[in-house]
Amino acid sequence: MPPFFDPVESGFYASCLENLLADTRLGPVLADGLVELGAGTGIPMAEALRRQESTVPVRGFELDGRSSRVAARIVEKAGLANYRIIHGDFFDGTRRGPERCAVGNPPYLPARGDAPELWGGDTGAEISRRVLSAGFETVLLLVSSISDPVGLLGHARAAGYRVSDWMARPIVFGAYTRDSRVSRRLSELARGGHAFFTPDTYVIAGVTWTADPAAPDDVEALTRVLTAGTATAIGEPVPEMNEPIPDDEGEPSSPAPISATLPAEPANSPSASASASARTRRVV
Ligand SMILES: C[S@@+](CC[C@H](N)C(=O)[O-])C[C@H]1O[C@@H](n2cnc3c(N)ncnc32)[C@H](O)[C@@H]1O
Repeated sequence: MPPFFDPVESGFYASCLENLLADTRLGPVLADGLVELGAGTGIPMAEALRRQESTVPVRGFELDGRSSRVAARIVEKAGLANYRIIHGDFFDGTRRGPERCAVGNPPYLPARGDAPELWGGDTGAEISRRVLSAGFETVLLLVSSISDPVGLLGHARAAGYRVSDWMARPIVFGAYTRDSRVSRRLSELARGGHAFFTPDTYVIAGVTWTADPAAPDDVEALTRVLTAGTATAIGEPVPEMNEPIPDDEGEPSSPAPISATLPAEPANSPSASASASARTRRVV
C-alpha cells in the first residue's frame, strides 16, 4: 500500500499539531518531547514543526515499512533533526522514552476494507482507546464522528482525562469509507447511535486531553458537533474529479512547501477531498 496522505485530513491533523506546539500552557510537557502514533508520510508533523519553528523532539512510530521509509526520506529532506521516524509499533516502543505527550491520527475505519492499516477495530476507535489507556499526561488525537465518538469521549473521561482544547471540520466520504464493507458497518453503527454523518460528510476533530480529573472538561459542545449527523446510510458516489482548484487569481494553487517533497511513490488519499479548503480535489 502507498503511504496514507489525504490533503484535507492530513492537512487538518497538521493544523492541530501546530496548535498544540504553540500552546504555551503545555511548555513543560512538550519539553520532554512527543511520541506520534502513525507518522504516515511524516508530512503533517514536519509541516507543523516547520511552521512553528519548533525544536521539540518527536519520535514518530510507523508500523508500515514502506510508509516509514518514505517518511524518513521526507523528514531528512526537510532538514528536521528533531523529528525521528521509527519503523515499529507505537505500543511496543513508546514507554521506553521520556515523552509525556502522545499524538496521532490513528486508524479509524470500523471494518476491514481495502486499507487494512486504516482499520480501527469493530467501532473504529479501538486504537485511540489504547492510546488513551497508555498513561500519557497529554494526548492529542484526531477523533472521527463515524468511529463511536461518544464511546471514545466516555473512555477518555473514565481514564481521568479532561478535554482541554479541540477543533473540528467536516470531511467528504471517500473511497475507503464508501467501500461496501465499511459503509455497511457504518450504517449498523449509525442505527445503534455509534456513528454520526450526513449522506455525504462526517466530522473530524482534533482533541487535546489532559490527565487531570479536577480540570474543566470542554466536552459538551464537542459532543454536539460530533453527533450532529443523523443519516444511516452513505449517499451515492460523487463524480470523479482530479482537477486542481483554481486560486483567487484563476491560477491552479501551488502545493504547500513540504507537501511538494512528496515521494515518487504515490500517497494514498482515501477521502473525497472536496472541501473549500482543499488545494486539490481528489475523489479516489
Ligand atoms: C490514518 S493514517 C495517518 C497517517 C498520518 N499521520 C496522516 O495523518 O497523514 C494512520 C497511520 O497509522 C499507522 N499505524 C497504525 N497502527 C500503528 C501502530 N500501532 N504503531 C505505529 N503506526 C501505526 C498506519 O500504518 C497509518 O500509516
